This record gives sequence, structure tokens and C-alpha cells, in this order.
Amino acid sequence: MAEIKAEEYSKIIPPMPVVLVSTLYGDVKNLAPFGMNMPVSFSPPLYAVGVSGSRDTYKNIMDTEEFVVAVPGPELAKAIDITAGSLPREVSEFEKAGLTPVKSAIVKPFRVKECQSNFECKLEWVKPAGDHYVVAGRVVAAWVDDRIYTEEVSRRMIDPVYHVSSEKGEYAGKGRLL
Ligand SMILES: Cc1cc2nc3c(=O)[nH]c(=O)nc-3n(C[C@H](O)[C@H](O)[C@H](O)COP(=O)(O)O)c2cc1C
Repeated sequence: MAEIKAEEYSKIIPPMPVVLVSTLYGDVKNLAPFGMNMPVSFSPPLYAVGVSGSRDTYKNIMDTEEFVVAVPGPELAKAIDITAGSLPREVSEFEKAGLTPVKSAIVKPFRVKECQSNFECKLEWVKPAGDHYVVAGRVVAAWVDDRIYTEEVSRRMIDPVYHVSSEKGEYAGKGRLL
């Protein structure tokens, strides 16, 4: 086996699915992609995201204690890149990326119409983690596209965008069922 630098460990795990995190700065609808993300509890339903303290997303969540996680499909790869641009806090990535904000049921940040699923979160806790913070949200409402929810929710229908390489800006699509 080839040994690599310990700091490069994240390159030798399967790529994470990209989620878009929607937050609010006053009236400004902020949106950014996050690869460090995972469910961490079923009951209560908790979702965690690794967010650098320099991100507007982090500041907005600390200020408002609310966010929405949206799951983009492969057709949104270009939009993901646009939302990742370093824009001033006053500029909405929704507009820049041509994505449509939809009013949420419980929280103030907006859902993303073009995404296949969205869930609304209230901040549960935040913990410093090296050069990032782990931000855990309690899921208070969840939505899925009608094309995915027919008679039951099936994860098979979710069409993720995997974050393969930051350096090369590479994404991958869905794999195969084994
Ligand atoms: C595919 C992808 C995944 C990313 N994942 C993360 C992440 O997990 N954590 C993080 O802090 N930044 C991540 N970033 C960088 C932020 O999305 C980027 O800095 C963005 O401009 C932050 O926007 P904001 O300042 O509006 O929050 C990622 C970028 C891309 C393109």
C-alpha cells in the first residue's frame, strides 16, 4: 500500500455528496456548496456541516440560528460552482447562479426550487473542529421533489453530485446499485 501524508486523508475516502446551504444576511439570500456534511442523529433528526469560520454561511448561521440544506442534482454542477464564488456578503448567490428561492415552512432562509430535496434546520449546537466548525442543525421540515416521492421515499431516486476534487473542480455522478 502506498503511504500518503496524513493531512491528505480526505482524498482517500469516497467523495461526499455536495449540498447547498441557504442562509440569510438580513434580506440577502446566501447560498454556498458544502462537501463536509452528514446526518448525525435520527432522533432528534440532526444534520452536521463542516463550515469554515470565514464563510458568510457560518456568520449567518451564528447570527440567525437557522439554515436550509438543499441537495442539487448533476444538472446543477455549473450552478454549484457559481455559488462557491467569493462574493461580498451583500450579494445573493441565488441570483448569480440563476436559482429560485422558495419560502420555507418554518425557518426564514429559503429553499432552492431547482434542488431535488430540501430540509429546514434550526441550529442545535456548534463545535470548533480544527480549521472548521461542526455546525449541527435540527431538521424541522423536509421536502422532496414529486418525481422522487411517489408512493414512498426511496434513496435510490436521489441523483447526487459527488465532490471529487477541489483542486481540479471535479464532480462525479451517481454510481451503481450493488
Ligand atoms: C464542491 C464544494 C464543496 C465545498 N465544501 C466546503 C465545506 O465543506 N466547508 C467549507 O467551509 N467550505 C466549502 N467549500 C467552499 C465554500 O463553498 C466557498 O468558500 C463559498 O464561497 C462559501 O460561501 P459563503 O461565504 O457565502 O458561505 C466548498 C466549495 C465547493 C465548490
